[in-house]
Formats: sequence, structure tokens, C-alpha cells
Amino acid sequence: MHTRNRITVIGTGYLGITHAACMAEVGHEVLGLDIDADKIRQLNHGELPIHENGLDELLRRGVVSGRLRFTTSFQEAAEFGDVHFLCLGTPQRTDSSAADTSQLDAAIDALAPHLTRACLVVGKSTVPVGTAERLNRRLIERAPAGDAINLAWNPEFLREGFAVKDTLSPDRIVLGVRTESAERTLRAIYAPLGDIPTVVTDFATAELVKAAANSFLATKISYINAMAEVCEAAQGDVVALAEALSYDGRIGGRFLNAGIGFGGGCLPKDIRAFTARAEELGAGRALSFLREVDEINIRRRSRAVELARELVGGSLAGRAVAVLGAAFKPDSDDIRDSPALAIANAIQEEGGLVSVYDPVALDNARKAYPTLGYAGSPTEAAQEAHVTLLLTEWSDFVELDPEEFGSVVADRNVVDGRNALSPIAWRAAGWNYRALGRP
Ligand code: UGA
Repeated sequence: MHTRNRITVIGTGYLGITHAACMAEVGHEVLGLDIDADKIRQLNHGELPIHENGLDELLRRGVVSGRLRFTTSFQEAAEFGDVHFLCLGTPQRTDSSAADTSQLDAAIDALAPHLTRACLVVGKSTVPVGTAERLNRRLIERAPAGDAINLAWNPEFLREGFAVKDTLSPDRIVLGVRTESAERTLRAIYAPLGDIPTVVTDFATAELVKAAANSFLATKISYINAMAEVCEAAQGDVVALAEALSYDGRIGGRFLNAGIGFGGGCLPKDIRAFTARAEELGAGRALSFLREVDEINIRRRSRAVELARELVGGSLAGRAVAVLGAAFKPDSDDIRDSPALAIANAIQEEGGLVSVYDPVALDNARKAYPTLGYAGSPTEAAQEAHVTLLLTEWSDFVELDPEEFGSVVADRNVVDGRNALSPIAWRAAGWNYRALGRP
């Protein structure tokens, strides 16, 4: 029998809702908190405001069991929780490439005055190294319980689309702690997950692990996309090249899919924030390669537009363009820094008549890019299209029958932005098939 802890989760974005629902699922008493009252009302009804596989069921189960509730009150959270998880967003600042940690500061400022007894505050957000140290001072200064309050840093590595699985069976747990009691408490909270490799370290290292992991992943993607650029110049095939690399166990095949590159709310802003922070620390040279990683990534978007332009004979102006995919990756409705929408927008700026379809991200896309055209199905998007671009590899798109789908378009021209379609099948059905990094 594991100990039940009274946990609060502050911030109910992708990370916070997932963490709250998973902690309730494994038996803890959980109170989620957000300043968005509408969202809290929805969550208390067991309604999930985002698309994430399996999370709706966990949320409903938690709410029905009574182990999972949501509030907007910091006082209630302080009274309820022995452990407070901070799951606030740290987006890119509008005036620089650094991370904006103001939501964390605001949460500490709102929570601390109510902390009148010993408790543990645990940061999960991705932050510039040094943030935990700073927040620790802020917390102790502002909380009536003072240094009876412990802070820990416990970064999160979940992927959207696999958030529940990654939270319930993580590859590793990283605990940045200053006291044995903080380590004990966190180990007890995660004990129901089973025997997970756990690294116990200091604040700075815990913060850095997250930045290092995301930078590595971004670098791996840009590496294969750089190989795609060379393949384009040398008439090589990056898909075969990646497959051959993948059999080398030291390299591995994951995150070697060449295409239009990485987007989302994490990798792009994390590599920029990491670079900015290293520069502040006087270690800028060590991470200067991450600028190149970013540039390779952005160049791939232009290449996709170029392929579409070539397929329609040199100019996209006045041409009907079908865009399949809006989310930054499949199985998500997240459109933050989505390569698909950036490409759709660039094509529209060249005068292309764009029609976008996505199985779940259309509402979010419409809000962010209101001037793009939208459709209710792949075939509606492709009606009379002169060129079709596959930009998010949803299985619905990958499984399209090129013959049947070809009957609705004006011209059978396709750009496979994710190297997800079968060139043989599409070419056999009469399509002019172009992909990134392939002949
Ligand atoms: C990423 C990390 O993978 C997580 O470990 C981390 O916890 C998370 O950021 C975070 O910081 O919160 P996520 O942004 O959900 O997770 O998505 P990924 O699966 O990493 O994909 C990122 C982007 O890279 C997507 O646009 C995807 O299409 C692209 N990608 C991925 C490629 O272009 N090629 C690949 O081979 C793999």
C-alpha cells in the first residue's frame, strides 16, 4: 500500500492536467489550480479542454472518484496541499529569445502568503538554469512559514500525444533537491509508478537535464534534415540514409524522420531559451550550434513551399493549394509554432488559395490564422487543388487511397512534407510526388 499524498497542481495546461489526472489515477488526492475560471468549471465537470489520447478517461475517473478536483483559490490550495507542483508555461518572451518565467513568479507570489506550515513546492516547468534558486528565495521571503518550506526541481519529459503513458511510465525521474525529506516525499509520490530509474541531483543540474534533452532531440532532427539538404544536392535519398543509420545502435532510429522539421510549444523555444541563458552565463560559445539547428529547421519550411511552387510551374499565385495537417504533430491539437501552419501561411502570402484540413486542430488553427481557408475533410480541402501538401502525418492522411483521392483534385501534385506517404503507390496512381531529401 502506497502512501496517499495531498497534492496540488498549479497551472492546468497540457502538463498540469496530465500530471493532476495521473497523480489521482495512482491514488493521490489532487487539487488542480488555474486562474482561468472557465477552464476550472469545465475540468470539474470532467471535460478535457485539449486533445490528448486517453487523458479524458483519466480525468473523468479522477473527478468521479472524488480524488481529483479543481479550484481557482490559492488559499484553498495552500490549506489542502502538502506538496505543490508548479506546472506553469514558460513561453518565449516577445522581446527576446529568452524564456518568460513570469507565470512561475506570479504563482509563487499568489501561493506563498498562504503557506503557513511546512510543505514542499516542486517545479516541473522547463526553465532557464538558475530559476529554481531564484524561486526558492522568493518563496522563503514571502511565505509565513519561511524556511520550513522546501523547494525541489523535478522536470517533466512527457510528449504530447503520449502524455499519459509518459507520465505513468516515464523513462526516468530527475529530482533536484536540497534535503533528504524532499527526496523522500517525491520518491513516495512516484512509488506507485514502479521501479523507475531516478537521478537525484542539485537544482541546476535538474533544470539543465531538461534543456539538454530537448536540445539533443532538436539537434537530432536538424541533423537528419541537414542530411536531407545534402541529399537534395547530391540526388541521394534521406529516408534510406536514415534507415541505414538507424541500425547502428549508437545512433538509433528515433527522431531521425526528415521532413518539414520540429515545431510545438517546447523544442523551438527551448533551444532558443537555452542559448540565451548560456550567453548570459558566459557560455554562449558552447551552444552556438543550436542557432544552426534552429536555422536548418526553419529552412525546411521554405523548401516545402519551393517544392509546391515547382510542382505548379513556378508560381503559387492564384493556385488552389490543399494543406493536410495543422497540428505541430499528429495526435495533438496543439498548433504552437506548427510548421504546417507556417507553410500554409507562407503559401497564402505568395497568393496561393489555401484550404487547410486537420482532424482535431482546426479550431485552434482558425483562431491563430483567421485568414487561411479551412475545410471539413481531406477531400473538401483538395477539391480542384493544383497541389496538395501533407504536413502533419495523421494516420488518416497516410492511409489515403491515392487513386480515389486523386479524383477530386485538379492536378495530381503532392508534396510529402513528412516522408510519410509511399512514393511508389502515389506515383503509380499518376501523382507527381515530391518529398524533402528524396529524389
Ligand atoms: C518534446 C519532447 O520530445 C518531450 O520529451 C518533452 O517533454 C516535451 O517536448 C516538452 O518539453 O514538454 P513534444 O513537443 O510533445 O515533446 O513533441 P515531439 O514528439 O518531441 O515532437 C516535436 C516536433 O518534432 C514535432 O513537430 C515533430 O513533428 C517533429 N519531429 C519529431 C520531426 O520532425 N522528426 C522526428 O524524427 C521527430
